[in-house]
Amino acid sequence: MKITARLALALAAAIAGVLYLSSYLHVQSDGLRLSLMALGLTGVSLWIIYWRVARPLDRLTLWMRDIRAGDEARFPVRARALETLVAEASRLAQSLGEARAVAEQEARLRHRADAVWTAERLKEHVRRQLEGRPMFLVANREPYEHCRKGKAIEVRTPASGLVTGLEPILRACGGTWIAHGSGDADWDVVDARGKVKVPPHDPQYTLKRVWLSEDEMDGYYYGFSNEGLWPLCHIAHTRPLFQSEDWARYKAVNEKFAQALLQEMAGTQEPCVLIQDYHFALLPRLIKTFRPDARVAIFWHIPWPNPEAFDICPWQTAILDGMLGADLIGFHIQFHCNNFLETVDRTLESQVDWERFAVRRSSHATLVKPLPISIAFPTPQTAPAPALEELLKPLGLRASAIGVGVDRIDYTKGIVERFRAVERFLELHPEQKGEFSFVELAAPSRTLIQRYQDLVAAVEQEAVRINGRFQSKQWRPIVLLKRIHSHEQIEPFYKAARLCFVTSLHDGMNLVSKEFVAARDDELGVLILSRFTGAARELRDALLINPYDIEQMAEALHQALTMDEREQARRMASMRRALKDHNVYQWAGRLIEELAKIPSVDALTGPSEPGT
Ligand code: G6P
Repeated sequence: MKITARLALALAAAIAGVLYLSSYLHVQSDGLRLSLMALGLTGVSLWIIYWRVARPLDRLTLWMRDIRAGDEARFPVRARALETLVAEASRLAQSLGEARAVAEQEARLRHRADAVWTAERLKEHVRRQLEGRPMFLVANREPYEHCRKGKAIEVRTPASGLVTGLEPILRACGGTWIAHGSGDADWDVVDARGKVKVPPHDPQYTLKRVWLSEDEMDGYYYGFSNEGLWPLCHIAHTRPLFQSEDWARYKAVNEKFAQALLQEMAGTQEPCVLIQDYHFALLPRLIKTFRPDARVAIFWHIPWPNPEAFDICPWQTAILDGMLGADLIGFHIQFHCNNFLETVDRTLESQVDWERFAVRRSSHATLVKPLPISIAFPTPQTAPAPALEELLKPLGLRASAIGVGVDRIDYTKGIVERFRAVERFLELHPEQKGEFSFVELAAPSRTLIQRYQDLVAAVEQEAVRINGRFQSKQWRPIVLLKRIHSHEQIEPFYKAARLCFVTSLHDGMNLVSKEFVAARDDELGVLILSRFTGAARELRDALLINPYDIEQMAEALHQALTMDEREQARRMASMRRALKDHNVYQWAGRLIEELAKIPSVDALTGPSEPGT
């Protein structure tokens, strides 16, 4: 039936309905009868507008989003009113599909030519390695948080090196990221299974949120993970705190994530599971027990200490046993792999194969590999460096050169030591007063933990003390900007700075150093880097320092500020080459390739899943 005929029919039905209703209700007044009729007509008109226009428009939006994500289905409903629009969008989808096919073809060629790793090349590589098997990533931290701001909901990216490293991989390859839903509006935007497509404005993969109570967070995240394992694994001379209630919560939350993951994996075959970090040491065993067909890797983003240091953990056996459930364990550097293997050797009944870097227990083998994580590089060209004056104006400051530091406020980062180095530098080089400022972009982190609160206070006090010694009306030596900064807000500081100062007392990798190098497409600027970071093994042209040696750090500041441009360019170009050869796409490619190589186990021999 033609649309006009349908409309006429609907309107006639509405008028007849209202007339019938008014006679049924014995409505006498003409005025009331007319009002009822107007009401009826408005209702029908709204219904028609919704059905013929608003609903198809909604569908159109979702359909276009799917097309952008590579799912080229036909437009799901017939909508005459939008016919031309749908036809145009279909043509656009076709062109997009063709462009995508060309890009994939190029990626295939590049794959063969062993060129730079890009998102496209990784996608192609993963497609070949996994042959259609799905990929799941588990991390405590989610890549996007939905948070309330007044009546609106805004999306935030948490300050986390882990998120910086992993997000480009999921964008390139798709899959499911399972994480704790930590934003106060997270619940409002997910479907009935706790899932939402992200990035919010350009959906490429699925984020599945797991909900944790305050008690669970206290024990598992703040307690065992961050008051126990974090100081245990970082040699920063902060004493770990081990409490049995925290351990109980840690176990329970690992089980909760195992349930969520097993549910997501139901119906899949030989899925690839990438577990991230020290929050989930028990997860590999829990997953492999119920899904022996899954290929499971756990990547430990923080250092692994020597066996004597690890020996103080009351639950070390359970932790090692949990991790060894994995097929592959990754650390950033060989040194941490060796520490781990020695710890296993001393603690568990097992066979450590030092030739292959593997551990065999019963019939299962776990490979232990160094896989240094990185960032997405090369990045698309961004805006050139802003004028220093403009950058400092909103802060009410003037300086002729700045240094930059970017950190979560954490006792492993050596922020107080860094400030003392700036102080010492100004004592040794008073001519730099009024000229050089150090800008610290510091994100508060884990602030429910007393030690972190104390650290925030100590960092602030130290900045105030040092500024008090040297500052003038429009200049101060230390500019402490204490809040979470987005990448877009950090980038201008990277670009305008004469140096980036990374002084971690101990750090698994440290991606800030790599982000600084990536931002410097002018090939200028100097990186001062703690030799106790994983990054120091790759970025050999940084000025390497010992963050416990204040004099040496002050000297490095001087060297950086007086280094001629040719020398800066030589060092920066070499670090950028290292970054290009070892970017995060290459990291993920190697990790997934190693995992895919592991021979499959007959899924039917394993027990069935628990209550999923
Ligand atoms: C850094 C570490 C990661 C860790 C993350 C946790 O990025 O390198 O290993 O997972 O911090 O930070 P969060 O804020 O999530 O506690």
